[in-house]
Amino acid sequence: MVDSLKKPSFEELRPGVKVPAKETLLTPRFYTTDFDEMAKMDLSPNEEELKALLEEFRADYNRHHFVRDAEFEQSWDSIDGETRKLFIEFLERSCTAEFSGFLLYKELGRRLKDKNPLLAEGFNLMSRDEARHAGFLNKALSDFNLSLDLGFLTKTHKYTFFKPKFIFYATYLSEKIGYWRYITIYRHLEAHPENRIYPIFRFFENWCQDENRHGDFFDAVMRAQPQFLNDWRAKLWCRFFLLSVFATMYLNDIQRSGFYASLGLDARDYDIKVIEKTNETAGRVFPVILDVSKPEFYQRLDVCINNNEKLGAIANSNTPKFLQFFQKLPFYVSNAWQLLRLYLMKPIDMTSVHGTVR
Ligand SMILES: [Fe+2]
Ligand SMILES: [Fe+2]
Repeated sequence: MVDSLKKPSFEELRPGVKVPAKETLLTPRFYTTDFDEMAKMDLSPNEEELKALLEEFRADYNRHHFVRDAEFEQSWDSIDGETRKLFIEFLERSCTAEFSGFLLYKELGRRLKDKNPLLAEGFNLMSRDEARHAGFLNKALSDFNLSLDLGFLTKTHKYTFFKPKFIFYATYLSEKIGYWRYITIYRHLEAHPENRIYPIFRFFENWCQDENRHGDFFDAVMRAQPQFLNDWRAKLWCRFFLLSVFATMYLNDIQRSGFYASLGLDARDYDIKVIEKTNETAGRVFPVILDVSKPEFYQRLDVCINNNEKLGAIANSNTPKFLQFFQKLPFYVSNAWQLLRLYLMKPIDMTSVHGTVR
């Protein structure tokens, strides 16, 4: 009994291959897009910057970075119980997110090859990086005697269709938030090495530079398409994407605060820092950013967290399903209301700043 408490069991597809986590609104998404529209994009208005970024990608600074060293070669049974479960979930979520980037970029690289070589090369080189990231995380899962069948995931995961403009908002933000997430963990563990309970975090410093460069590439692509950034629609959509990315991360992380606690981090403080930094970074290219300094921003997200806890408790109760729906309804309505109010909070206009500071 003690053993089963120490080693949480996960459902397996085959021995050692984990059944992927159930897809919800909060799990990493896989994307597809309108490849013809993407192929027709004219990047000449910002070609110089894009070419310079491609040079950086080609230099492949992390070519020799993702190599597992001796520190991995030990038993990780000391990470047990709830921490082990949260650890495995963290590795799985990160691996799935990295792999989703790989799939999208790889497909774009393939489809745009002859039609838009500049964009195609960028996507191909980014998919090279994401494949390394996903592979490294999957290898880390094997230290916990599990792995993900990425081929199975490719076939069974749902794909969300986004028009190219939305793909760029979403991928830009996920790269930049990824950068801030990795670097914040890295810097924290650098200051508190006693909390570095597993070696993968040592790799985050160079790793996050890949994400930063990917984000810069999307920044440059959006600048080549000023209509993505300069009208009222762009302002509304940028607000929408900022809010969805921040809310998703916050709701996910607070729910798993035990994982961050195992690294000596307070999940809330960590998320607030990552949100502030990502928001500030996005202000370099997006026409608006969110006013995340207002306490209301986190208060409303905290209401959603409480609602989600109640929703979880209802779902796990013995109440018949059709009654559960009515019990859940007020919490769904409350979540929608909080998110709407967050969306309507007065944003910070960045267009006047862009002329002076870049
Ligand atoms: Fe990545
Ligand atoms: Fe990336």
